[in-house]
Amino acid sequence: MEIKTKKGKIEQEKAEVVVLRHFEGKNISEEDDIKKIDQILGGMISDIIKDNEFTGVLNQSIMLHVKGKMPAKRVLLVGLGKKEEFNSDRLRQAMGRACSHIRELGIKSLSTSVSETDRKNYSVEDAAQVMVEGGLLGLYRFDKYKSDKDSDKKEIKEWTFVESSEKKIGSVRRGIDRGTILAEGTNFARDLGNHPSNVVTPERLVGIAKEMAKEVGIKCKILDRARMERLGMGALLGVAKGSMEPPMFIILEYNGMKKKDAPVVLAGKSITFDSGGISLKPSDKMEQMKDDMSGGAVVLGAMKIAAQLKLPVNLVGLLPATENMPGGNAIKPGDVLKTMSGKTIEVINTDAEGRMILSDALCYADDYKPAAVIDIATLTTACVIALGNGVIGAMGNDDRLIAMLKKAGDITGEKLWELPLVEEYNEQIKSDIADVKNVGGRAGGSITAALFLSKFADNYPWVHLDIAGTSWNEKKKPYIPKGATGIGVRLLVRFLSDYCKGN
Ligand code: BES
Ligand code: ZN
Ligand code: ZN
Repeated sequence: MEIKTKKGKIEQEKAEVVVLRHFEGKNISEEDDIKKIDQILGGMISDIIKDNEFTGVLNQSIMLHVKGKMPAKRVLLVGLGKKEEFNSDRLRQAMGRACSHIRELGIKSLSTSVSETDRKNYSVEDAAQVMVEGGLLGLYRFDKYKSDKDSDKKEIKEWTFVESSEKKIGSVRRGIDRGTILAEGTNFARDLGNHPSNVVTPERLVGIAKEMAKEVGIKCKILDRARMERLGMGALLGVAKGSMEPPMFIILEYNGMKKKDAPVVLAGKSITFDSGGISLKPSDKMEQMKDDMSGGAVVLGAMKIAAQLKLPVNLVGLLPATENMPGGNAIKPGDVLKTMSGKTIEVINTDAEGRMILSDALCYADDYKPAAVIDIATLTTACVIALGNGVIGAMGNDDRLIAMLKKAGDITGEKLWELPLVEEYNEQIKSDIADVKNVGGRAGGSITAALFLSKFADNYPWVHLDIAGTSWNEKKKPYIPKGATGIGVRLLVRFLSDYCKGN
């Protein structure tokens, strides 16, 4: 889709459809664009509101034909909910809903303006960015394996931002560009989670990472099995033993600052398929485990965006990638693995593989003497039970980083909540024969998983993000279609841009 800016007045725009936002229960005389257009339409909108056909409740949308009364053919009204409860995520949602509605009807273009209604203590640029994010994220679809492609039939080709003030056009344009980069980077991560595991193998992930790195001008290095053996990455190699696919360790480096400045390391769990291994998972919903590499996908998406936005930060992305499969050579419960750090792990359950591959990545991160390390992983079912499908679990050894991530998530609409790293629960992962065991029982499962990781992250400020509940979506939301959500991408980018500003 092409997104354009144009100087002019929205009420004079000759558009297929003009999208207008409205607050529930508010008088439209307080809403600039809608007020002007209602007058032109002879009170048509106020009548509809008066008759309760459109109330403005969040994400409600209704299409009106207005041809003849104004240059545009149609007006789409979208609800923003109550004004007191408004925030930028509601604008994102409303635009996601609006764009889906327009596309469902087979309409090929739309026009909007950034009105006062859309802004609440943020700039015109931010409002334009959020609107574009909502639209492009909401229009995402994955039809690569369909012969009869949805995208051949209905597609919005053009979106025009009409702006009456010459001064503001530059801000709108910058917001559109940033929103497009953020949405496209997120949709790139979504694609990776939606592709089946017979396509996105560790090897294929390497190809995709290299291609992305080349496109945005960042470095990409690969460690193959022989290199991993020399480095002693026994945990990653152990998990990979049951699979016919060779494991890969992908390293991405982006320098937005002087080389000597300590980087932020992002490590993403990249299990391209998690069958559970010898501790085989039940078959119900097992197909969803193709998304068990979404932590890695998020890291690729965030690095891509950071490079495109030229964020002034040094970044390293680490993706330990393998399948977790049962096989004649697979690791078995009771086996002991030696990690790169030298610490040993007793494997109690081969399905708790994420924490094991991450242990080698967290140790590898040490070499960079990082300023901060954030790992992101579909790690535990316990996190789904604790926080549900709408909230990321966060744990770590640095309160400031967690607070910054929480603030970033509140802005991007990717909620996260801290769970405590309860010192005493370390008892649960004590092994009789090794340094640590890979499961700590059902009680506090997300916490014991993070405590396990903390043993390999003791040299630097570190946060672990558990996206097991949030990386896959079962029911369409305004800007999150079914399937891989790409959650974490915009969150990390926002965090990084705040981080480089030092707040
Ligand atoms: N990839 C799974 C966690 C998961 C479950 C992610 C559901 C998304 C949706 C992880 O590798 C796993 O299997 N964890 C086990 C650990 C347990 C055996 C200690 C779990 O949480 O059930
Ligand atoms: Zn598992
Ligand atoms: Zn897993």
